[in-house]
Amino acid sequence: MCGIVGAIAERNISNVLLEGLKRLEYRGYDSAGLTVIRDGQLHRERQVGKVQALVDAVNNDAENFKGNIGIAHTRWATHGEPAQHNAHPHVSGKVAVVHNGIVENYKPLKDELIKKGYTFTSQTDTEVVAHLIAEAYKDTKDLLKAVELIVPRLHGAFALGVVHVDNPDELITVRLGSPLVIGVGIGENFIASDQLALLPVTNRFMYLEEGDIAMVKRDSIEVFADGQPVERAITELDAKHHNADKGEFKHYMLKEIYEQPDAVARTLAMGIDATDLKADFLASHEAELAKVKHIQVLACGTSYHAGMVAKYWFESLTKLPCSVEVASEFRYRNPVVVDDTLVVCLSQSGETADTLSALRETQRRAKSGEIKGMTTLSICNVATSSLVRETEIFIPTLAGVEVGVASTKAFTTQLAALMLLVLKVGKVQHRIDSDVLSSIVTDMHQLKGYLDRSLALDQSIANLSQMFEAKKSTLFLGRGMQFPIALEGALKLKEISYIHAEGYAAGELKHGPLALVDKDMPIVVLAPRDSMLDKLKANMQEVHARHGELFVFASENSELESDERMHVIHVPEVCEYLAPIVYSIPIQFLSYHVAVMRGTDVDQPRNLAKSVTVE
Ligand code: G6P
Repeated sequence: MCGIVGAIAERNISNVLLEGLKRLEYRGYDSAGLTVIRDGQLHRERQVGKVQALVDAVNNDAENFKGNIGIAHTRWATHGEPAQHNAHPHVSGKVAVVHNGIVENYKPLKDELIKKGYTFTSQTDTEVVAHLIAEAYKDTKDLLKAVELIVPRLHGAFALGVVHVDNPDELITVRLGSPLVIGVGIGENFIASDQLALLPVTNRFMYLEEGDIAMVKRDSIEVFADGQPVERAITELDAKHHNADKGEFKHYMLKEIYEQPDAVARTLAMGIDATDLKADFLASHEAELAKVKHIQVLACGTSYHAGMVAKYWFESLTKLPCSVEVASEFRYRNPVVVDDTLVVCLSQSGETADTLSALRETQRRAKSGEIKGMTTLSICNVATSSLVRETEIFIPTLAGVEVGVASTKAFTTQLAALMLLVLKVGKVQHRIDSDVLSSIVTDMHQLKGYLDRSLALDQSIANLSQMFEAKKSTLFLGRGMQFPIALEGALKLKEISYIHAEGYAAGELKHGPLALVDKDMPIVVLAPRDSMLDKLKANMQEVHARHGELFVFASENSELESDERMHVIHVPEVCEYLAPIVYSIPIQFLSYHVAVMRGTDVDQPRNLAKSVTVE
């Protein structure tokens, strides 16, 4: 989604802006632009396509882009096609604006501004904001006041960066529903949608609250809420978990697949000692967890699939009912939430607009007394995100920065954190047998080894992936806890290779998808040796009989061997509960290698974004 970077300094800031945009590329975008104030003028450059096109254009005119204050942007089109005239910054006279989010009521505002004589050069909602500020500035002659005056007129969720030629020592920023962080330097300050953009220039950050408007100068930051000055703390980040370098890997996604054994082990280590949960794990929340009668998981995309696995875990290990729903549906269907529900929000970014709105909807209903005894919990990879700040309990996933749009290590660490939560709730409520708990904890200690061994499948899966390169469609099948992994396999393949793929509970095969099966349809099956294996083998026979080509990821002891139309790849055998984590690796490798073979943009697939900050 759109990314904002801004800077005010004594030095030339154009390279800081461009480097910041490059570091935001992972968010997904289709055009990029920047403006700096130099010699009493706005110098602006905008390009469709990659940030590199913008870098080249700016470098061709380097003298004009030397400035001490500027704003920059990557745009993910919402209003108006990806085109130069729609790219940000948008300018009205001496005002320039970059914007992330949506101004829902832009149409009546635009009509009003046209009547006042403003002309529009883009189809964006953002241009309205630039003109409104320019109009308000005519009266206030004060940029902060002008921004404060117009913000209440904008409906929607957004973040803004604003500069004005006559105020070259002021960078104004607004956070109202979209992420925005201030990077605190020495004699220089910065703004960005994600701190990642600013790590080359600072590791000290101030996180704005919703509704905050900040006046950022070279040597001061003033934050206002409802027109009153407020204090916002500065957090220092430990840079070692924020290494966003690709290293020797060809793509971030591949690097992130390889980081999973360590990331999962690190996440599990928060909660377990030799054979039990650590006494201090979620110790301060035991009272809330002890009264939970129902779990409601809310998430989107890959995180939703992690939630689906957790449903199997919660219900089979603790016998507590667990519902899982995509946040965008839950938010609008007026769902029943019973008393004493634990609302679990899963998100790698912690900024997904749908998940945040679904959470806020449950909080609104709890506040009005409609839901009693509700507790909210987030499992998230960004400790400073909106989601974490707005939930009562937080379990971090210690995956480190994930850059690839297709989530890998954030997913498997979510599963690790979810299993810790299941065990904790089970233990606090005496719903889980201590032998079962200790056997799962023992297996958790061995998980890193199993994941390391799964990484060794890289080359054999690369070889298999050639057989998918020219295919139009693929089915992924799994049963029980592997059903969500089948869904995740299909999502991954379509996200990055653009091959149509569907995930199915294998038992459903004969109720529809079997009609698609012929010799041209590859069918990927997840077949660990578990309680469902015999049923799954019967489903595979149904495919075999119709000449479908099977690609089976199976346990070493599953007694499944390759034949003419069945390719078996053996995956390390692990206990049934942890198998979804291990089987995530082969499906990630498969989508990765198919995408590389097809020459797609693996880390930044077309039309997708890493952090989806609009509904
Ligand atoms: C986007 C990303 C996915 C992610 C989904 C939910 O679509 O491309 O990888 O699974 O958003 O994001 P979240 O940050 O809430 O997990």
